[in-house]
Amino acid sequence: MRIAGIVPAAGRGERLGRPTPKALVQVGALPLVVHAVAALLRAGADPVVVAAPTDAIEEVRRQVPRALVVPGGAHRWESVRLALDAIPADVDAVLVHDAARPFVPDDVVERVVAALDAGAAAVVPVAPLADTVKRVDRDGVVVETVDRSTLRAVQTPQGFRRDVLAAAHADAETLDVTDDAALVEAMGVAVQTVWGDPRAFKVTTPWDLAVAEAMWETGKA
Ligand code: C5P
Repeated sequence: MRIAGIVPAAGRGERLGRPTPKALVQVGALPLVVHAVAALLRAGADPVVVAAPTDAIEEVRRQVPRALVVPGGAHRWESVRLALDAIPADVDAVLVHDAARPFVPDDVVERVVAALDAGAAAVVPVAPLADTVKRVDRDGVVVETVDRSTLRAVQTPQGFRRDVLAAAHADAETLDVTDDAALVEAMGVAVQTVWGDPRAFKVTTPWDLAVAEAMWETGKA
């Protein structure tokens, strides 16, 4: 099975409060996108296509010379679609991995690939929720406490049979989604879960960046 990688890296990362695009913010002296691409290359993804911010394409190309870099879009799903268009025809499956998740352990990627190998059409790595979860109304008043045991937080890389992801993206305009699996679910295709890992967390806030830096410095990444 030939597997390609897609790294949506075109977000501005406004919650990080930095002037540079988030994918170029450094952890352990390397930009986030370099760590994310490396994780897919270690798993044998070929090619790895990065969707970069349009004003940073040359800089991203310089940072990830082994990846194919294409301009990203205004939404994450659009960036994924643009990267998907650059994938060769003989690729069977695709791993979509956020640039903002620098430290996904190799065994998480291996579990996703193993599930694809075993015939899954779509696979997402998941983690249990640590906090109690409540649904609130518009005024912030609690409506109910949700049964946490059946909920999962979803990480990346998400794995898809290529034809399934391409079909899901054909409908993307009509859907406001934050991951690719939601598009596949909307088609009625079963999405399998495998266990993720806390280290696959997404760098979103300055606090997350401090955690990532500390992980790197203490050899826990
Ligand atoms: O904003 P958020 O952290 O949820 O973005 C998740 C991933 O999607 C990031 O790696 C980000 O660079 C990417 N993204 C993108 N194109 C956009 C918005 C987000 O590639 N327009």
